[in-house]
Amino acid sequence: MCPHPSRIENDLPLPLISAEDIAQRVAALGREIAATLPPGPIHVIAVLRGAFVFAADLVRAMPRDVRCDFLAVRSYGSATESSGIVEITHDIGLPITGQQVLLVEDIVDTGLTIRHLLDLLSTRHPASVHVCTLLSKPSRRSTEVPVHFVGFEIADHFVVGYGLDHDQRYRNLPHVGILAEPSSPAP
Ligand code: IMP
Repeated sequence: MCPHPSRIENDLPLPLISAEDIAQRVAALGREIAATLPPGPIHVIAVLRGAFVFAADLVRAMPRDVRCDFLAVRSYGSATESSGIVEITHDIGLPITGQQVLLVEDIVDTGLTIRHLLDLLSTRHPASVHVCTLLSKPSRRSTEVPVHFVGFEIADHFVVGYGLDHDQRYRNLPHVGILAEPSSPAP
């Protein structure tokens, strides 16, 4: 089998969750969400950029009346640490007042980004907001946030692939891998 082009060019993320395991879990999550949320339309808000791959697969696994919207955020901090300061660079385009919202994230790490987004969305008076994330790192949480649907809980690794990036790279990997620390230069 031909290796994925992102893996040919340079450093190879260490495989953590295979594309097959992701597909199975996303299908199960879609069924669980569809069965759990009360009847009525579900207003899905995917947080860009990281959640775009996950959200695309998730909505296709939800046999419900789904509306799709997008919120783009820029988180400040170092390349691998969120500061919790979040700037909205693209706001949702549809009103959510009185709507049942499903906020779709790629990963919940400290929880600061989700906290900020939940506070923002609550000012628009949705009927409810549920949070769904592909990945969660519970050991890293610095604020309590409700996360209703979790694909996989992972340990404290910096991961890439299936939408997640490091410096905008690796989003197109079909699996999730651990990004190795850059090797220190030879003495
Ligand atoms: P939080 O505010 O610390 O929960 O961080 C959330 C955001 O940080 C995510 O939406 C990602 O954009 C980014 N992030 C946190 N951990 C990782 C990771 O392991 N890989 C890639 N991005 C991450």
